[in-house]
Amino acid sequence: MTRKTVRDYIRTIPDFPTPGIMFRDITTLLADPRGFRMCVDQILHPYADQRIDKVVGLEARGFILGGAVAHQLNKGLVLVRKKGKLPAATLSQDYNLEYGSATMEIHDDALQAGERVLIVDDLLATGGTAEAGIKLCERLGAEVVGCSFIVDLPDLGGRERLTALGIAVDALCAFEGD
Ligand code: PRP
Ligand code: MG
Repeated sequence: MTRKTVRDYIRTIPDFPTPGIMFRDITTLLADPRGFRMCVDQILHPYADQRIDKVVGLEARGFILGGAVAHQLNKGLVLVRKKGKLPAATLSQDYNLEYGSATMEIHDDALQAGERVLIVDDLLATGGTAEAGIKLCERLGAEVVGCSFIVDLPDLGGRERLTALGIAVDALCAFEGD
């Protein structure tokens, strides 16, 4: 029997939330202790020899992963949230969705200039969400050492978009043909 990979723990739900969409459901991965730990370990593996000062989690599923990664590193977790959710003074960054646009925010005192941050989220599609997160971190003077995801949907071009910004991108698995 071959060892299960992170990808094997992810469940696909066809036609959710709308017809034609193959939803990659990570709840089955998170619910399995081996799967969840494998995920955190693999995200941190490329950074074993690098200094990371803070982990930044992107709302919403990036919070779950970010919390576990930050705890493992013994570093703090910073939240990038959708507009209107953070209570103190914020910086805002607009980003494009398939139809329309949205806004992400970060507390303006969440990162110090020169801090090295790792951004994490569950899934990379077009890269718009992650790009907004990168810009927010950089506007606070932090250095984004990388963006790590559980799932990459390569057909949507997110990796190229983030790589073009000079950011190291890692994903634990990919689903093509969506
Ligand atoms: C999903 C996913 C990523 C983002 C990826 O989040 O969790 O955060 O889309 O898409 P992109 O690369 O095209 O920006 P969603 O916006 O559905 O919100 P949620 O995490 O709060 O459910
Ligand atoms: Mg999300």
